Amino acid sequence: MQERQARAGAAKRSAHLLLFARNFFRFPAMLGSVVPSSRFLVNDVLSAVDWEQARVIVEFGPGVGTMTREILRRMRRDATLVAIELNPAFVDFLDQEIDDPRLRVVNASAGEVRAVLGSLGAGRADCIISGIPYTNMPEATRQEILKESRQALSPEGALLVYQFTRTVLPYLESSFGSVRQRFQLLNIFPARIFHCTP
Ligand SMILES: C[S@@+](CC[C@H](N)C(=O)[O-])C[C@H]1O[C@@H](n2cnc3c(N)ncnc32)[C@H](O)[C@@H]1O
Repeated sequence: MQERQARAGAAKRSAHLLLFARNFFRFPAMLGSVVPSSRFLVNDVLSAVDWEQARVIVEFGPGVGTMTREILRRMRRDATLVAIELNPAFVDFLDQEIDDPRLRVVNASAGEVRAVLGSLGAGRADCIISGIPYTNMPEATRQEILKESRQALSPEGALLVYQFTRTVLPYLESSFGSVRQRFQLLNIFPARIFHCTP
């Protein structure tokens, strides 16, 4: 019985990896990575969230839901997770795979975050967790997403960004009052985590 469950779990993980890799080869700049984040990176990013307080959480670029599942596991029962994903293949996948009434998956760009929150009647975000590849996007798009993110956050809120490069750092520093940095080596590739508060 346990062996069958373990085999089913491994098959599911392989299917997630395959879907992710297939989409990377179709849209390399949009994904920015050939594999989803490691559990070390997921834990490191999510350790910065105040789970007791957070009621509206936004995730940019959930992909196949690696971070999403762990956010749902940690967040309050009355909290809402709004996952904004540009790739419709991932949106369909998440709709089919994750059955949780606290999750809203929206096919949009991160730059539309305020409009998305408004349309869901969700109010401002306590936390935005961003895994999208800022290095690969045009400067105007990067600036627009960060401006919108800053305005979508509550005054006590935080933007958590994980990236493989420091390209986004000056943009974060010009939009946010405080940017703290950490480094997580146990990931393909090692990642920087930026903790930004207004
Ligand atoms: C590196 S993957 C991260 C996936 C997942 N969060 C993880 O940590 O494994 C980047 C994701 O961001 C999505 N993405 C890229 N640009 C986006 C944008 N402007 N708005 C929303 N999602 C975007 C991609 O489709 C992809 O799912």
